[in-house]
Amino acid sequence: MKDILIAGVFAAFAITVIDSLSCRQCSSTAEGTERCPGNSEPKDCPISDSVPEWMNCVETLVNSTLGGSQPLYQERSCLASNCEEITQADFTVRLPDAQQYQFVSQCCEGEACKDTDPGPRNLTNTQCSSCYRINQGTCNETTQQCFEGEQCVQIIVQRGSGKLELKGCSDISNATCEALGGKEIGGFTFQTVNCTNAAIIPVTTTTTTTPTIVTTTPSTSTSLKASFISSVFGSLLLLKLLF
Ligand SMILES: *[C@@H]1O[C@H](CO)[C@@H](O)[C@H](O)[C@H]1NC(C)=O
Ligand SMILES: *[C@@H]1O[C@H](CO)[C@@H](O)[C@H](O)[C@H]1NC(C)=O
Ligand SMILES: *[C@@H]1O[C@H](CO)[C@@H](O)[C@H](O)[C@H]1NC(C)=O
Ligand SMILES: *[C@@H]1O[C@H](CO)[C@@H](O)[C@H](O)[C@H]1NC(C)=O
Ligand SMILES: *[C@@H]1O[C@H](CO)[C@@H](O)[C@H](O)[C@H]1NC(C)=O
Repeated sequence: MKDILIAGVFAAFAITVIDSLSCRQCSSTAEGTERCPGNSEPKDCPISDSVPEWMNCVETLVNSTLGGSQPLYQERSCLASNCEEITQADFTVRLPDAQQYQFVSQCCEGEACKDTDPGPRNLTNTQCSSCYRINQGTCNETTQQCFEGEQCVQIIVQRGSGKLELKGCSDISNATCEALGGKEIGGFTFQTVNCTNAAIIPVTTTTTTTPTIVTTTPSTSTSLKASFISSVFGSLLLLKLLF
């Protein structure tokens, strides 16, 4: 009997669903649900007269290579809330050994959200110190050459009892740097968000017997090898549970 009532309620929803907002809707954390496919199609949001008129699409995404498989966390849903109440952020921190940590929190007013893509960029003559630290591990700092529009960040993000420190070049905006510190989004708490301008790479000149011949070494980022990849594997299982 109860089931019939619930079915009836859903049928009533189905009728009013016409012309409603469509959002991508999926959760990578909900039990029994598939991981969100890359291009999940928008689905109609339910509308009832108890729900306010303003309905928007919200998405939180963590796309991190540190967990071994991508993406590790996605929440996409309809939200009966004003976008101004949502802390929005979209940045990638580049880490040693071509690792990366992307965090996206977007609220799309009256339309389905789209994937964000920074596109191709040129390297600059600036650099940041880069490393990552899982819980109490060590941050093995290396030097990383930055792309156009990037600055240096130090971010400490906590989720449950897990803690991750990230340092490197990032396309994070100044507005996000200011807004994100201390905020909690989708269970991720940004304890520290420290942004600084990338430093100019010092040009080292080697003078030989002929003073006119100068050798410059502009970059060290490509010479970094996967020497500590193996040491990371021990932490992966733990990390997977947290991020
Ligand atoms: C996650 O990042 C990888 C590498 O940049 C990219 O190929 C993939 O499309 C991203 N996934 C999502 C869901 O954005
Ligand atoms: C990269 O630099 C080249 C040469 O300066 C320029 O033509 C090109 O537009 C730049 N690309 C981007 C994405 O800025
Ligand atoms: C961020 O702010 C710093 C310091 O005020 C400034 O030098 C830099 O150009 C800004 N970066 C961007 C991407 O606006
Ligand atoms: C931010 O980072 C800079 C450079 O690493 C450091 O000097 C400064 O103390 C940091 N600020 C905070 C508030 O952590
Ligand atoms: C940093 O280096 C130490 C010592 O080589 C190693 O034990 C640790 O796992 C490394 N940490 C990371 C995140 O690679």
